[in-house]
Amino acid sequence: MQILSFESSCDETSCAVVEYAGGVFNVKSNIVASQIDIHARFGGVVPEIASRAHCEAISKITYEALEEAGVTIENDIDAICVTASPGLIGALLVGVNFAKSLAYSYGKPLVAVNHMKGHIAANYITHPELKPPFLTLIASGGHTSFVIVHDYTKTETIAGTRDDAMGEAFDKVARVMGMPYPGGAALDKLAYEGEAVLKFPSSAINGDTLDMSFSGIKTAVLNYLNSKAQKEEEYSRADVAASFVESAVSGVITKLNMALDAHPEIHSLALAGGVAANSHLRAAVTKLAKKRGIELYLPELCYCGDNGAMIAVAGILEYNEGKRADVFLNASAADEE
Ligand code: KG4
Ligand code: ZN
Repeated sequence: MQILSFESSCDETSCAVVEYAGGVFNVKSNIVASQIDIHARFGGVVPEIASRAHCEAISKITYEALEEAGVTIENDIDAICVTASPGLIGALLVGVNFAKSLAYSYGKPLVAVNHMKGHIAANYITHPELKPPFLTLIASGGHTSFVIVHDYTKTETIAGTRDDAMGEAFDKVARVMGMPYPGGAALDKLAYEGEAVLKFPSSAINGDTLDMSFSGIKTAVLNYLNSKAQKEEEYSRADVAASFVESAVSGVITKLNMALDAHPEIHSLALAGGVAANSHLRAAVTKLAKKRGIELYLPELCYCGDNGAMIAVAGILEYNEGKRADVFLNASAADEE
């Protein structure tokens, strides 16, 4: 079967065509129109501007995705999938209404997809051998959680951040260090030039909880930078980056180990979300997996950030379970099934 999918939950408008046959997902096209340049001058995503930019991009990228895949909706597409939650409500509504109109006018089935399940599903593109149950660390600009994937469509969130998302903390620290939005990837690189000599709080919350916190490290970094500026003292930006990354990542590893200890039935771990592209996190989970003797699945870098292909994959899995939406489908800012 072939799926046409849409993603517009935040600052990327994306449309993809994905074919599913014999348990394997073949991405025939995956067009991503990024709004990063538009939002960079504001230092973060401006929701109203995001919605308008989605409106401007969505028709064009749909034509591009269909053309690159060499298909037409009428003849080749079996179903249309769209991110319906969670995300910026105005941004989500653009994709949802566009997908609804296409599904209605072409008489194709419509499937609503949860964005976070989409991030998890990005792993199946590269690793069709990945089978539930497994544990996932989802880390993006808006979410950070540990999710047990019991079945392809059944997930259970067992822990999460109590404040900032991991990507949000990366972006905020990068911003005060003068890097353009979103600075997560730039901070990732800069950390290689320094040493983790500064002691910032860990992202692991003390005690038995599996929860994490990223706002404490972020505030500690901001205080350090402010105090250096006030005293007009020199400091190494690279050491700040390396120390921040170390505190953020090592705390996540502590909690991942605790989560795996608490769930001995789980033998596989996957990463998902934009921060899954972080090289330090990838290296740290690789070490953890080797030490524990568990299987590790990392999404390809091109599928870590928001994209339509991952929504198609999650949508196909829902479609196979019989899930369908109709013309009354609404978007939801909250994380809904
Ligand atoms: O999943 P995503 O594309 O969008 C959301 O659903 O939020 O994630 C975007 C987040 C941003 O905060 C971005 O800075 C972060 O992922 N990110 C990274 C890296 N690449 C992207 N954070 C740390 N290191 C990276 N290499
Ligand atoms: Zn995302």
